[in-house]
Amino acid sequence: MSYLPISLNIEGKKIVIIGGGRVALQKVKNLISFTKNITVVSPEIKEGLYYFDITIIQSEYSSSYIKDAFMVYACTNDISVNNTISDDTDRLNILCNRTDRPDKSDFISSAVALDSKFRVAVNSTDRDKRSTIKLRNRIKGLLKKLELYRDKRNDNRGKVFLVGFGPGNPELMTIKADDLCHEADIIFYDDLLDCTSLDKYSAEKVYVGKRRGNHHKNQDEINEVLYLAARQNKMVVRLKGGDPLIFGRGSEEKMYLEERGIIAEIIPGITSAIAAASCSGIPLTHRGVSSSVAFGTAHGKSSYKLLESDTSVYYMGAKNILDVAKKYLDSGYPKDYPVAIVHNASMPDQEVIKTNISELLQDKFEIKSPIISIFGNTVNYKNIVTENRCKSCNKC
Ligand SMILES: C[S@@+](CC[C@H](N)C(=O)[O-])C[C@H]1O[C@@H](n2cnc3c(N)ncnc32)[C@H](O)[C@@H]1O
Repeated sequence: MSYLPISLNIEGKKIVIIGGGRVALQKVKNLISFTKNITVVSPEIKEGLYYFDITIIQSEYSSSYIKDAFMVYACTNDISVNNTISDDTDRLNILCNRTDRPDKSDFISSAVALDSKFRVAVNSTDRDKRSTIKLRNRIKGLLKKLELYRDKRNDNRGKVFLVGFGPGNPELMTIKADDLCHEADIIFYDDLLDCTSLDKYSAEKVYVGKRRGNHHKNQDEINEVLYLAARQNKMVVRLKGGDPLIFGRGSEEKMYLEERGIIAEIIPGITSAIAAASCSGIPLTHRGVSSSVAFGTAHGKSSYKLLESDTSVYYMGAKNILDVAKKYLDSGYPKDYPVAIVHNASMPDQEVIKTNISELLQDKFEIKSPIISIFGNTVNYKNIVTENRCKSCNKC
């Protein structure tokens, strides 16, 4: 079978449905918004069919009913009648769809998703109805969203969205972030781990990161390019790794823009600390092990603070991680105080080192940027929970 997906103009053309049951009713529901010229022929007619403005002929099938038809649906539950119908349509050169024999049909019905602008028809090569409907329903959701953005299109012009991209894996972007990127006129992005994930967006893409050679931009320049793009009445997306408001300078950009009369909206993203913990199976809190968590930076040898929390999570620690561990030791933490280092959290090449401060200080691990480091007993929570259980059961 080789079905060509096309759209047929059936306005005013006669469609005949042979059969008067559930399948016929469904066909009428699908067709009625395209044509009113529908005739249903069957000795028994399901009540629901009478609610439609169509022609109903309560009769056994006869080829006289299809003579002037453009398309015929054979949906009786009698194979011999369906065979007769398809023999007749072949002879009369009329397009025929048999619900019992797609392989003997001139056309098949698609699962359709419609809105005021788009008509999307979905067929599968293997007639897998469930996946076809699933895909159609996803498309319906997408159409609804597109319609919403079509209405908002003008409101979003001249506006800057400061959007969290999440930890790097595009699957962890929020739906809102993805929608805005699809709608944007221009996307300013920085050191996202994999910028090929932006290929699917049709917006102009401008790199404004701080890492790439001579072409890097400082913060003042970034603020200014965002401002200028908004002044050109563009819908601007400023994509930032993780969440814009955690070591992301999102608040600086928002202030700069708002002081100049530009609306800047922040769209949260999954921050890398949360992703590193979840993607490596290390809880940030665990009943009986940790009831508080703090986020901090390990950037700048002398400027960062040792966090005081049951679980302490440091960003930007690749260069200083040994120094952080030393500070823990000097502050009286035990040598076996657990530490986890998560490199490229959420990415296919994510690496997790679970160790303790004494081992870390032996400098035997290769630490590659970017990392999130987690200090605290939740790194070893399973051991602690099991140990506590054994102590309280007094049997082992
Ligand atoms: C300038 S901060 C930006 C933080 C970002 N706004 C966030 O919410 O995750 C950059 C630091 O984030 C951390 N980071 C970002 N993505 C990461 C990832 N996928 N794996 C590990 N650390 C990551 C590293 O500590 C890196 O040095």
